[in-house]
Amino acid sequence: MSISLDFSGRTVVVIGGTSGINRGIAESFARAGARVAVASRSQDKVDDTVAALQSAGAEQAMGVAFDVRDPAAVEAGLTKMHTAFGDFDILISGAAGNFPAFAAEMSVNAFKTVVDIDLMGTVHVMKAAYPLLKRPGASIINISAPQAFLPYEGQSHVSAAKAGVDMITRSLALEWSPEGIRINSVVPGYIENTEGARRLAPNDRAMEMIRKTIPQGRWGTTDDVANACLFLGSDLAGYISGQVISVDGALYQRGSGMLGQMLGDMLRDAKGKRL
Ligand code: COA
Ligand code: NAP
Repeated sequence: MSISLDFSGRTVVVIGGTSGINRGIAESFARAGARVAVASRSQDKVDDTVAALQSAGAEQAMGVAFDVRDPAAVEAGLTKMHTAFGDFDILISGAAGNFPAFAAEMSVNAFKTVVDIDLMGTVHVMKAAYPLLKRPGASIINISAPQAFLPYEGQSHVSAAKAGVDMITRSLALEWSPEGIRINSVVPGYIENTEGARRLAPNDRAMEMIRKTIPQGRWGTTDDVANACLFLGSDLAGYISGQVISVDGALYQRGSGMLGQMLGDMLRDAKGKRL
């Protein structure tokens, strides 16, 4: 079967789009001919990604460096993208931070740091992007995580933040649908060769245990997640909004299970040292 989607003439913005899963999403839209803008904290990562997007076939590519925890910087960065590329057809919000730590052992600032990046960062992106979205027709995709609905030991901060992200998705689907704006969450499972996965599975033993736990018997790829985003960003998904969609090889059906305990065991073995 041959499937191809054409995003030429469309503006796609990927926040946190300079590495891992989100960069894979940005590159997929570039290969489909879109104008793609990315943002993250590191100017070097932004520059490297913009060059890759151009090579991948983007109609145009640009990037801005900012921290999603700074609402004024987010607003200035998105305005710059809007001035260059016009109304946003597709917005992907995926900047995030994670580390394994027990709630009782991490500082209040550690917990808050993840909430500030994942949850408040999403709030800042949504608020700044709202006036810049194509209406009717815009599609927003928030990148969530299984921890939003599955509790894992050592991940209370991420669970709290990403559950909030998914409720933003659901709430804004109610508020913004009348203007023709769709919004969904995509929930990657364990995605190979990514920083997020390395932080949760720091050795071969953990990686293999996770592989065996995934009902499809393999880790996900960045393309698996990007393909779901291409679909949700396209007119094929025109009646889909307010949904939280897992791309996880059926991992969710296992519940937290052993994975919920594995990080806790690793932290206990580390006896107070950071993983
Ligand atoms: N265990 C416990 N606490 C930790 C920690 C760990 N492994 N790593 C950081 N912290 C704490 C710090 O000690 C600090 O708290 P303190 O001020 O009370 O000491 C707080 O978290 C903030 O750390 P800091 O390094 O100042 O934050 P930062 O803003 O520079 O970086 C992080 C944010 C910590 C999330 C960093 O890991 C990051 O930038 N991550 C982005 C990449 C990533 O996580 N990718 C995976 C996405 S799922
Ligand atoms: P990653 O490579 O570390 O990507 C995170 C991106 O966000 C980077 O571009 C990073 O760039 C940017 N970023 C981080 N903090 C930021 C901040 N404060 N302001 C602006 N940008 C910031 O991680 P990943 O593993 O691919 O994860 C990507 C997304 O998928 C995240 O939302 C994560 O929660 C989700 N997810 C991942 C997995 C997985 O298996 N990897 C599973 C479930 C969900 P800078 O460093 O330049 O800022």
